[in-house]
Amino acid sequence: MSIIEEQNEYINKIKKYNEEKNKKFKYYILTMGCQLNENDSEKLCGMVEKMGYEKTDNPNEADLILFNTCCVRENAEDKLFGKLGEVKKQKEEKGAIIAIGGCMMQEKHITDKINKSYPYYDLIFGTHTLYRFPEDLYKVILNRKKQEDILDIDGEIYEGLPIKRSDNQKASVAIMNGCNNFCTYCIVPYVRGRERSRKPEDIINEITSLASEGYKEITLLGQNVNSYNGENGVTFAKLLEKIVKIDGIERIRFISPHPKDFTDDVIKVIAENEKICKIIHLPLQSGSSNVLKAMNRRYSKEQYLNLVEKMKKQIPNVLFSTDIIVGFPGETEEDFEDTLDVVEKVKFEQVYMFIYSRRVGTPADKMENQIPEEIKHKRFDRLKELVEKQTEINNEKYLGTIQKVLVEGTSKNNAEMLTGRTESNKVVIFEGEKNLIGTTKNIEIIENCLWYLKGKILN
Ligand code: SAH
Ligand code: SF4
Ligand code: F3S
Repeated sequence: MSIIEEQNEYINKIKKYNEEKNKKFKYYILTMGCQLNENDSEKLCGMVEKMGYEKTDNPNEADLILFNTCCVRENAEDKLFGKLGEVKKQKEEKGAIIAIGGCMMQEKHITDKINKSYPYYDLIFGTHTLYRFPEDLYKVILNRKKQEDILDIDGEIYEGLPIKRSDNQKASVAIMNGCNNFCTYCIVPYVRGRERSRKPEDIINEITSLASEGYKEITLLGQNVNSYNGENGVTFAKLLEKIVKIDGIERIRFISPHPKDFTDDVIKVIAENEKICKIIHLPLQSGSSNVLKAMNRRYSKEQYLNLVEKMKKQIPNVLFSTDIIVGFPGETEEDFEDTLDVVEKVKFEQVYMFIYSRRVGTPADKMENQIPEEIKHKRFDRLKELVEKQTEINNEKYLGTIQKVLVEGTSKNNAEMLTGRTESNKVVIFEGEKNLIGTTKNIEIIENCLWYLKGKILN
C-alpha cells in the first residue's frame, strides 16, 4: 500500500467512526501566512471533508479546530496565541479537538511555549508531516491522547492528497517546497526545509485536470520558483512552456521569483506567451546595496534596476509588484532613501511593506545594530505614504483603457455589482449579470477609487 493509500484508510476509519456517532461533525480552519500555507490548508480541508466533517466559520460550533500557522513575522505568531486562548472554552466544555500545524510548529521554542502555556491542544504537526494528518488525527480520536508529529528532516513531496479548493476559477499549484537562499532575516528555510521540486509530469497533470474542471487562472507557487529544477532537466522556463500549452487555462501567474535567478530564458517565455500575466512579482526587500548584502540577497541596487530595465525592454507593457522590508539591522537613513529611490524609479503596481521582525535562529537576529522600533515605524510610514501617492497616480493610467477582466464573483460590499481582476491584478467593480462569472470580459475603466477601479462592460 502506498503512503497516500495508507492515509486514505485512516480517512475512511475516521469517517466510519464519526458516522456511528450519528451527529453532523463540523470543522473550523484558520490559515495564517502565505499562499503556500493557503494551499496546504486546501489539502487539510480536502482530507477532513473526506472524513465527513462540514466546514463552519464559527469556531464555537466546531468539533475540530485547525490552525495552520506562519512564523515569518512576530505578529503572525501573536495571532495564534490569541486564538488558542479563545478556543480553550470550546475544548473544555464541548470536547472540541484542537490541531495546530504549519511553519510555527517547526520551531522548538514555540512548541515548548505551547506545551507550557496552552497544553490543552490535541495535535501538533509540522510542515513535513502534513500528509500524515489523517493518521495523527485518528490516533487522537481513538486514544484521546495528545500527539506531536514533527520532523526535522525535509519531508518528501507526496502526490495525490485530497484537496478542497477555495475558489472555482483561480487555483494555486505548488511547484516546489522549501528554500535554499537563507536571506539573513528569514525563518522560512528553517521551517520549510531545502528546495524540492515536484515532477513536471505531476504539475502538468494537476493543471490539466484543473482546466477540465473549468479553472481559468493558475498561480504557480514556491519560495523561489525560478530555481525550479524538475526531473530530466526541466527548468522553470521549460515548465512554463509546457504549462502555456494546456487548453482552458487563460492566465498564468507565479510567486515568488528571486531577482538573482531571473534568467533570460524565463524573460523570453513571458514575452512570447500571452497567457503569462505581464505583472511580475519581483521582491526587492531593500533598495540599498549595503543592506542587500547584509540580507544575503546576492544582488545590488544596480543589478535589480538593470533587471527591471531589461524586462521592460523585452516584455512590452510589463508591470511589477514587490516586497519591501524596512528597518533591517544597520539600515541607515541613506540606505532607506535608496529604497525610496527604487520605489520611485520602478513605479510598482503594488508594494507589500513589512517592518523588520527579529526571528529566533536567523543571522540577522544576532546582528548588534538593530534599529529602534520608533525609527522602523517612522520609515514604514514614509514608505507607505510614497506608495499610496504612487498608487493614485498609477491608477490614473487605467482611466479610459480597456482591460481584460476575469469575472470572479459578486462584489463583497455590493451584491448587485460584479468583481474581477485585470491581468495586472487590479480589482475592478462593474455592473453585469451573474452568468458572466467565470468568463473574461473587456471592461472600460471609468473611475479610479485608489484600492480598486470602476468599469463598464463592453461587448
Ligand atoms: N520567498 C519569497 C517570500 C517569502 S516571505 C521571496 O523571497 O520573495 C514573504 C515576505 O515576507 C518576504 O518577501 C519579506 O519581504 C517578508 N519577510 C520575511 N522575513 C521577514 C522578517 N523577518 N521581517 C519582516 N519581513 C519579513
Ligand atoms: Fe526567505 Fe529569502 Fe527564501 Fe524568500 S528567498 S523564503 S525571503 S530565505
Ligand atoms: Fe509564513 Fe511559512 Fe509562508 S512562515 S510566509 S506560512 S512559508
